[in-house]
Amino acid sequence: MADHRFLCAQAVAREAGQLIRRRFEDKSSFNLAFKGHQDHLTEVDGEAERLIVARLGEAFPGDTFIGEESAREASDSLWVIDPIDGTACFARGIPHFCVSIAYLRDRNPAIGVIYDPMFDEMFAAALGAGVTLNGKPVRVSGSDDIRSATIEIGWNMRSGIPGFVALVDRVMARGAGMIRSGSGALAMAYVAAGRLDAYLEQHINAWDVLAGLLLVREAGGYVSDFLAGEGLNKGNPVLACTPGLRQVLSEASGIR
Ligand code: IPD
Repeated sequence: MADHRFLCAQAVAREAGQLIRRRFEDKSSFNLAFKGHQDHLTEVDGEAERLIVARLGEAFPGDTFIGEESAREASDSLWVIDPIDGTACFARGIPHFCVSIAYLRDRNPAIGVIYDPMFDEMFAAALGAGVTLNGKPVRVSGSDDIRSATIEIGWNMRSGIPGFVALVDRVMARGAGMIRSGSGALAMAYVAAGRLDAYLEQHINAWDVLAGLLLVREAGGYVSDFLAGEGLNKGNPVLACTPGLRQVLSEASGIR
């Protein structure tokens, strides 16, 4: 049934993406709130999550869900969902956000789908089958020189400011160019497609990163052991990069 799930995940990500795009374009249709300091929330997050859970739950009644906004029930046939990754961008009128859907069979990522509704870009991976961007195969870049690499380092209030600044310092001191765009999931998709050479963050949640981890791995990249320990429920650090940057970035970040 993995093929059916794979096709459904893409169809549902597209449907949720279209809903999000409509709301984004009609700015008056949502209010902005905060779940915590610099942790944005709009009612569209909940609306999109309910749509995704309803569609997938209808198609696969025995499956369970972990979602950023509400659902929290793990099982051996599990969907992990971020209805809008890049909520801060979405809320501020910046067209850089996505829907992220991962499917885990026996706790192992088997499907990863990331959909960018503003550029109509569908990044999709199934275990052992590689990665496509709008149906065409993609791979990580061949980067093996940190001095010409472009990497993204994610920032959030959970891991604090001093640790982030120190990490940026250590990575940039080795010569990397750095951006921070506000969607960890989209950054992971960009690593898989060779647009970025690496993504790092000191703490990220499972819904932000699990689909991207499969994308990067299936695209020939290295990913750290995100699911170690309590990663699924409590999050972990993440490093995703080309094989050639693994050693330098592991050393610089301490993330393995
Ligand atoms: C956040 C974004 C951000 C990352 C944070 C995430 P959200 O997710 O992915 O880039 O640095 O760790 O929490 O709140 O936009 O879904």
